[in-house]
Amino acid sequence: MAVRDVLTIGDPRLRQVSAAVERFDDPALPELLQDLRDTMAACAGAGLAAPQIGVPLRVVIFGITRNPRYPEAPSIPETVLINPVLTPLGKEIDDSAWEGCLSVPLWRARVPRWRRLHYRALDPQGQPFEREVEGFHARVVQHECDHLDGVLFPDRVPEGLPHG
Ligand code: NI
Repeated sequence: MAVRDVLTIGDPRLRQVSAAVERFDDPALPELLQDLRDTMAACAGAGLAAPQIGVPLRVVIFGITRNPRYPEAPSIPETVLINPVLTPLGKEIDDSAWEGCLSVPLWRARVPRWRRLHYRALDPQGQPFEREVEGFHARVVQHECDHLDGVLFPDRVPEGLPHG
């Protein structure tokens, strides 16, 4: 319904801890989801979190078909996560992949993330679901869910890893 402005680093709204969604019968929720979908498509993003468009709720959307920002990435079905909970599976860290963010223009970096992940969340109807994922899918989920706690990927870049 609307392509919204994406907030960029320096905006304090990106640093808030977002609130859980509690009502699934509120028409504002499907409107938010459509705005996230439209904005992600307009920006060719792999994912987008509600706080990035100034809505401090625990909602993210992600998905990849063929994305010019991530030409090597596998496809991921479009997924909405509401009130997600992430649990790493194993201790393996992957710091080999580069990340960018629509809220951090012109910057990419190698970011350490859990390689394998279990997540559970509510879908747009409020129904719980869960998945076990790895690799790029696990990375995208960790990146997007960080936004719900006010964390941006540069916060995760240790000294010594290349960036530019
Ligand atoms: Ni991001």
